[in-house]
Amino acid sequence: MKFLRLSDIDVKHKTVLVRTDVNVPMQGGEISDYARITRLLPTIQYLTEKKAKVLLISHFGRPDGKYDPSLSLAPVADALARKLGHEVKFSVDSVGQVARDAVAELKPGEVMLLENLRFHAEEEAGDVAFAKELAVLADVFVNDAFSASHRAHASIVGVPQFLPTAAGLLMAEEVGVLTSLFSDAEKPIGAVIGGSKISSKLALLGNLIKTMDVLAIGGAMANTFLYAQGVNVGKSICEKGMKDTALSVLAEAKKHGCKIVLPVDLVVAEKFGPQAPCRVVSIDKIPADFTAVDIGPVSTIHFADAMKDCKTLVWNGPVGAFETSPFDCSTVQLARLIAKQTRERGLCSIAGGGDTVAALTHAGLAEEFSYLSTAGGAFLEWLEGKELPGVAALAQTKYKLGASA
Ligand code: 3PG
Repeated sequence: MKFLRLSDIDVKHKTVLVRTDVNVPMQGGEISDYARITRLLPTIQYLTEKKAKVLLISHFGRPDGKYDPSLSLAPVADALARKLGHEVKFSVDSVGQVARDAVAELKPGEVMLLENLRFHAEEEAGDVAFAKELAVLADVFVNDAFSASHRAHASIVGVPQFLPTAAGLLMAEEVGVLTSLFSDAEKPIGAVIGGSKISSKLALLGNLIKTMDVLAIGGAMANTFLYAQGVNVGKSICEKGMKDTALSVLAEAKKHGCKIVLPVDLVVAEKFGPQAPCRVVSIDKIPADFTAVDIGPVSTIHFADAMKDCKTLVWNGPVGAFETSPFDCSTVQLARLIAKQTRERGLCSIAGGGDTVAALTHAGLAEEFSYLSTAGGAFLEWLEGKELPGVAALAQTKYKLGASA
């Protein structure tokens, strides 16, 4: 993918508008995972060291185009300041006179975060006038929000029409790693895919069976594949109407030489809930009134073994209902086995997706994978083979290398 990078543009004393994704998870009013903040720091530090005036913009939650104090970015400005070790100013609006006045105060080397873009309905509508309002605040635009680049929103695809544009360091890293997955990744390459519904991952499965050598399918999605093959799945989540689709995914995979690995045992419970009594059964012994809540221990070893010759592995989606203990067991155990292969035999392990990264963090293994994407929906769309509008906009900017920036 050809686009300008930070090192291609002169930012000294320029006002640089940086589209970030600080849409961080919150629990009880506190930030529960700082990854999206810490992964942004290199871009901010690069720009402040070059004495740029750094203007950060982001969305936060889904306020539906209206002001919502609970979705203000003010606490994120404080969190950023703590991580950077210096002040981060805050503007209570992202456009208009308020923003212009705030930006006028900014000095070279200083950082300011503007209020949640989605307080304006024009952001999600991709409104060109809104994009222009953002663009007038700065001399240069940097998109460092790979994880929001599947959205054709004003701050993502509109601003590059008005300003010299480059990819931030995180954007360049994400695009680099994920591009290599489908081009020059070391083979054999395997994937672990979890999640509850085939219907929401059909495009993903369709693309992966063309490129992967082995594909292990867990989560409730596996129930539909088992059902399609004649397994009685009891009361488990299962898209019975997708039986033919599941069978055609299996047939297509065979055609492409992609080995599909499905669970051979499952953890089942009579009722779903924290600490609900559960037991392990082989797939031919699922009781009629029980629900599958996790893959079983034999399947976990099976999944990890299926990857033992792979040089590269990509993981999206927990293999069980990991948010509810003890149904996180197999996701955690599989993560441990993949981390072990990463450590001991140099497997290149790449994981992404909100739930997957949350599961790895919960397992204390986030650092033990080769690469963790910060993206959820954007990671999924990338694996589906879709072009992300924000990444395309970077490449299509009319400002060429060495232009006015
Ligand atoms: C994400 O968390 O995946 C991104 O920040 C995009 O958020 P959205 O799904 O609300 O557009």
